[in-house]
Amino acid sequence: MKTVRLGKTGLMVSRVGMGGIPITRPQEKDAIKVLQRALDLGVNFFDTASGYGLGSSEKRIGKALTGRRDTVVIATKTGLVDKKGASRSLERSLRQLNTDYIDLWQLGNVTTFEKYEKLSSSNGALKIAKEALQLGKVGHVGISTHNMAVAVEAVSSGIFETIQFPFNLIADEAAEELVPLAKEHDMGFIAMKPFAAGQIKDANLAIKFLLQFDNIVPDPGIETIEELEEIVDIVNGS
Ligand SMILES: NC(=O)c1ccc[n+]([C@@H]2O[C@H](COP(=O)([O-])OP(=O)(O)OC[C@H]3O[C@@H](n4cnc5c(N)ncnc54)[C@H](OP(=O)(O)O)[C@@H]3O)[C@@H](O)[C@H]2O)c1
Repeated sequence: MKTVRLGKTGLMVSRVGMGGIPITRPQEKDAIKVLQRALDLGVNFFDTASGYGLGSSEKRIGKALTGRRDTVVIATKTGLVDKKGASRSLERSLRQLNTDYIDLWQLGNVTTFEKYEKLSSSNGALKIAKEALQLGKVGHVGISTHNMAVAVEAVSSGIFETIQFPFNLIADEAAEELVPLAKEHDMGFIAMKPFAAGQIKDANLAIKFLLQFDNIVPDPGIETIEELEEIVDIVNGS
């Protein structure tokens, strides 16, 4: 599996990651088999959130990684922008993932400037992120948003090490400004929804579109071993 440097985090992650939403759908034992097959194929970047599947995404990832924690990069998120909520969410993630550190903690669901300002305020989630960095509970801090103006501001601020934003063949607005801006600021770029949440059916088109950009990590949501192997073959063959 090829790797890509996740911007200034310095983390070397597989050229394709694995998004944590669809693994909440099958039975747990089947989801764990998909995750373990991903590890066997060299996928080492797993993106999840404390609330996906009411916590089942993180729990399944935690179980699949038993004994292999050191070989992977776990990225998770909180959707809460206030200190108290973000702190609770971080502790919940650590518990659910059954780990004592998170490689990349993303402040997520930052849909508006109001939320962005709140998370950066003295009572905001960013304070918890900085404390967690000092305590070693978190290795790096990123941001995740669907709002282009917030994304541009966050990248330009220099506060975060990664940005997660929707980017695919259909929703390709990021190509013009955001992807080059992230590169300029040496920020890792995680492409959310490579299949446009399942609207794009052709994996070859979906993945090859994103592989054109050398500084991004596609983060497809994968439910089955067949989907996984198809995507990994495309990446290995590119
Ligand atoms: N930060 C945020 O706010 C946020 C929001 C959403 C998602 N995310 C992250 O981004 C990840 C990706 O988003 P997503 O899962 O919603 O969307 P996605 O990756 O665009 O789409 C996932 C869907 O693509 C289809 N697919 C997967 N592999 C395929 C293959 N080999 N061939 C054809 N179709 C295939 C499947 O849909 P069918 O089963 O319908 O075929 C699958 O459920 C999430 O898992 C999550 O980690 C983050």
